[in-house]
Amino acid sequence: MNLAVFVSGRGSNLKAILENEDLKNIITIVAVISDKQNCAAFDIAKENNITTFYIGNKEGNISFEKLVSWMKINSVELIVLAGFLKLIPSYFVGEFRNKIINIHPALLPSFGGKGMYGMNVHKAVFQSSSKVSGPTVHFVDEYYDTGGIIAQQCVDISSVNSPEEIAEKVLKEEHKILPYVIKKIIEGKVIRTDNRVVVLE
Ligand code: GRF
Repeated sequence: MNLAVFVSGRGSNLKAILENEDLKNIITIVAVISDKQNCAAFDIAKENNITTFYIGNKEGNISFEKLVSWMKINSVELIVLAGFLKLIPSYFVGEFRNKIINIHPALLPSFGGKGMYGMNVHKAVFQSSSKVSGPTVHFVDEYYDTGGIIAQQCVDISSVNSPEEIAEKVLKEEHKILPYVIKKIIEGKVIRTDNRVVVLE
């Protein structure tokens, strides 16, 4: 299956997808798209000979409009947001309904929404004294972090001393759950029923 991955920063989830043994023979990442021209994730893409697109606010080498046709011409069947910070325009979501997934570093529907990204999330979780956190993989709709939840992994944070410690624990699980969900989607085992998303064994 052809995938496109949207990133904004370090790219550790992109790396986890690329290095996952279960995915090696069943996916091809045909493009990595970023709103940051000089992000580490672009370096990872280039090392792996993957086409990169910069989709800046004012000037970029591609626009969301042009990206829609590029994705179609290149038979992209799944779009993965792995640390992409911008809201995906609604017409783009409409073109790829149920084909865009996002990873969020907390247990949605808590600690999500506009401005809730990166360390902001982990700081809010820490301040709340939550005893659990963990990654959520969900379908992307027109809003921030509100699409149907596909999978989550609880992490015990009852004895952490800092938001950084939460980030580290959650990131480890992100690197497992994102490839897991991609594999399940490829196997046709992620099913949408009315308002729920079911992952079959
Ligand atoms: C991850 O924590 C992801 O959940 C969030 O942004 C971070 C991206 O990290 N949406 P990386 O660029 O994959 O290392």
